[in-house]
Amino acid sequence: MPPRRKRAPVNDSFSQHVALVTGAGSGIGRAVSQALAARGAAVVVSDINGEAADAVVAEITAAGGTASAIVTDATDPAALTAAVAHAVDTHGKLTLAVNNAGIGGPTGLAADIPVEGWQRVIDLNLSAVFYGVHAQIPAMLAAGGGSIVNISSILGLVGEATAVPYTAAKHGVTGLTKAIAAGYAAQGIRANSVHPGYIETPLIEKAPKDFLIAKHPIGRLGTAEEVAAVVLFLLSDEASFVTGSQYGVDGAYTAI
Ligand SMILES: NC(=O)c1ccc[n+]([C@@H]2O[C@H](COP(=O)([O-])OP(=O)(O)OC[C@H]3O[C@@H](n4cnc5c(N)ncnc54)[C@H](O)[C@@H]3O)[C@@H](O)[C@H]2O)c1
Repeated sequence: MPPRRKRAPVNDSFSQHVALVTGAGSGIGRAVSQALAARGAAVVVSDINGEAADAVVAEITAAGGTASAIVTDATDPAALTAAVAHAVDTHGKLTLAVNNAGIGGPTGLAADIPVEGWQRVIDLNLSAVFYGVHAQIPAMLAAGGGSIVNISSILGLVGEATAVPYTAAKHGVTGLTKAIAAGYAAQGIRANSVHPGYIETPLIEKAPKDFLIAKHPIGRLGTAEEVAAVVLFLLSDEASFVTGSQYGVDGAYTAI
């Protein structure tokens, strides 16, 4: 008798879950969506860029996963409410959310930052996270609980002189996440923030690579998949006692 071929174990640990990921058409959001779908979650791929969201859904479904796209401007509270309604109407509930959409914004010392640039970064990188959880939490409570990961940054833990609105917004995400964790822990909703170092995505394609690499003792930039791995841990039941925490994924950037 020929030897039985060994099959790789199927990890479907998220098969009971429905996830909503913002900014899911590219970079970290795309990697998180793909990883969740590969483990059995139904994923709502939401992005302001409909073509990018559709492309991620096509990748997921081609790999045998379940996903649907929705065009969402995360700075519009009504759009985030609609994205949650889409998750419930299309996939039956919402139990996981990754508030990820973000931009780099203007750089320079504080006095040189245009007020409009400040407002744009705070709108998307901070207020949109609030709009997201504001819409997501009632649906999670209705589903009996859930887990939220908000994508902050190393600049949500330490400052950077020339990333003024970005640093402020990402520190805001750190605090917002703690408040949510404290407020909803007893009702079965966990919330944690993830703090990537510089990750090779379109967000930083114009930045000088060697200069950025030098800030990471590990000697390289991170990948979106390395961030997704930590996000999935925090979303999973393995992290059942982890809430209100800040998880770095930064090659020791914040260790020095
Ligand atoms: N790349 C890095 O080095 C790095 C480091 C730390 C934190 N982060 C954070 O990770 C998150 C994702 O970044 P990324 O590197 O994957 O970026 P990315 O540019 O690859 O992807 C961002 C996605 O957000 C979408 N988006 C932009 N504006 C939006 C809006 N108003 N509404 C909804 N979607 C919108 C874009 O269309 C894009 O698909 C951001 O919050 C970013 O601040 C990135």
